[in-house]
Amino acid sequence: MSFGTKIIGTGSGLPSRVMHNAELETFLDTSDEWIRTRTGIETRRIANPEKGETSFTMARQAAEQALEMAGRKGSDLDAIIVGTITPDTVMPNTANQLQAVLGASRAFSFDLQAACSGFAYGMSIIDQYMRLGTIRTALVIGVETLSTLVDWRDRSTAVLFGDAAGAVVFERTEDPDHRVIDTRIFSDGRLGELLCIPHGFGKVPPYRPEYQLHMHKIKMRGNEVFKVAVRNMVDASKKIMQAHKISKDDIDLFIFHQANLRIIDSCAESLNIDKRKLWLNVQKYGNTSAATLPVSLDEAWRSGTVKQGDLILMATFGGGLTWASALIRL
Ligand code: ACO
Repeated sequence: MSFGTKIIGTGSGLPSRVMHNAELETFLDTSDEWIRTRTGIETRRIANPEKGETSFTMARQAAEQALEMAGRKGSDLDAIIVGTITPDTVMPNTANQLQAVLGASRAFSFDLQAACSGFAYGMSIIDQYMRLGTIRTALVIGVETLSTLVDWRDRSTAVLFGDAAGAVVFERTEDPDHRVIDTRIFSDGRLGELLCIPHGFGKVPPYRPEYQLHMHKIKMRGNEVFKVAVRNMVDASKKIMQAHKISKDDIDLFIFHQANLRIIDSCAESLNIDKRKLWLNVQKYGNTSAATLPVSLDEAWRSGTVKQGDLILMATFGGGLTWASALIRL
């Protein structure tokens, strides 16, 4: 009997402030109509650190919800991985901060940076440990406070992003029928400049004359990213379905990275998917990067859209460039 990974709990942490497209119209040369038609986004959530809303607190909320649904305690955890490019502090990392407040003293814990693919990368790593039989219970989180990395003067990116956290508790299983069937993770550093933070943290430090705050914010060549995102998510989806001889018609729900409704539609068209099987919440939350997959899974499960036994295909794409797919039988 082989070991595998079962999902036993999910949770979300969303900041309270809802920012409508109309608010963006007040300080950017943009319109609700442009944003809706080009992206599908209507509102996004924006964290307020003054109210204690940060990557860590959103991640904690999501983690506590997921543990509660799973019926597990922090002390049951063997591992915590947090996918994020916006930790409150680089040191200690978010996963270590969570380890402390959740009482998960047995768990190893670390953050990983794979932009929007951070959750999928974390899930893939955990699945390998589970298959080896070296861990039993694990927490994987995708969290971003991208509002802190957005250049609010740049209309081509400021309208796209939102803040959120999503968490999933995984447990080792010997049940062949309810498990993560496979995960595939990919990267291509040659195209990193398409979506990047040019001056980074160390590249141009504040004491250098060429330091400019806006170069420490997200820059994106949107048109090119659009095409690569569609191509890679379609390719990753096909690869994982073909490897397991699973047809698109066998899948109950497709959860694509919630970056842009047109990207999701293009993926669905390329794969010839029934659009009723697409999960969509990009209109409410915008692109929450590493959080889009776990928040979507949490909402789909809690709303009854998916249930035990359903087959889910996830595909994501992010800066770096990174991308991933996963097949999960709930
Ligand atoms: N409001 C009004 N006009 C705008 C805005 C805005 N917010 N942003 C750009 N425009 C203008 C441009 O200046 C351009 O004007 P011009 O024709 O006078 O030069 C025009 O709209 C068209 O611009 P395009 O960039 O060609 O518009 P496009 O249809 O490609 O949409 C968008 C832009 C939404 C960014 C799209 O390219 C996209 O979604 N790309 C992928 C982005 C993405 O998903 N990134 C994240 C994936 S990875 C991750 O999640 C980190």
